[in-house]
Amino acid sequence: MEEKEKVEEKKPLLRLGETVPDFEAVTTHGKIRLSDFKGKWVILFSHPADFTPVCTTEFVAFAQINDELVKRNVKLIGLSIDSTFSHIAWIRKIKEKFGIKIPFPVIADLDMKVSNLFGMIHPGESATAAVRCVFAIDPEMKLRAMIYYPLNVGRNMKEILRLVDALQTADKYKVAAPANWKPGDDVIVPPPKTQEEAEKRLQEGYECVDWFLCKKKLPP
Ligand code: BEZ
Repeated sequence: MEEKEKVEEKKPLLRLGETVPDFEAVTTHGKIRLSDFKGKWVILFSHPADFTPVCTTEFVAFAQINDELVKRNVKLIGLSIDSTFSHIAWIRKIKEKFGIKIPFPVIADLDMKVSNLFGMIHPGESATAAVRCVFAIDPEMKLRAMIYYPLNVGRNMKEILRLVDALQTADKYKVAAPANWKPGDDVIVPPPKTQEEAEKRLQEGYECVDWFLCKKKLPP
């Protein structure tokens, strides 16, 4: 077998809509299993390295949205290929410099077990550090969204909250979120699947551009 194929074999691509693999990991809050959080949404995110500038701004920003995530039944979990001692020292430094307590567990993935399981290592960016991933995992442990950012661009916390709101709203009301949707905006009614449904669609009281693009308001 070719060397490249062997490497590919070790890193199965996670696919949206599939159950994520469970794992046990050492974190700054002790040992956790992903399945400990079944019944909650999980935002699992990786950062390339402790004590680096962009990651530090991201950690402060993730800590600042944690309360909003908790309100939405979301558990935030961080990860990097650093030791628990490094995580603890960095978290203490963040508290000292920014006055911000990091409220979520951070996985110390020194053996890259979780990073490889979730495809967080992109050798074109770095062979030894995880890229900036965000995995949105639903209460049944299904992977619902993935975001990948490179080493040199920090993520947008408003977009992460928007993604959670959009996924939860889509599930609750069986609708879809249009481009740039935010809570309070109209949502998209799933398009008709048959000719008969298409013919009825324009008489159903929705705001339609055409039979395949109709929006509705949600209850306040
Ligand atoms: C940073 O967080 O600033 C960073 C981390 C890894 C590589 C480059 C930048």
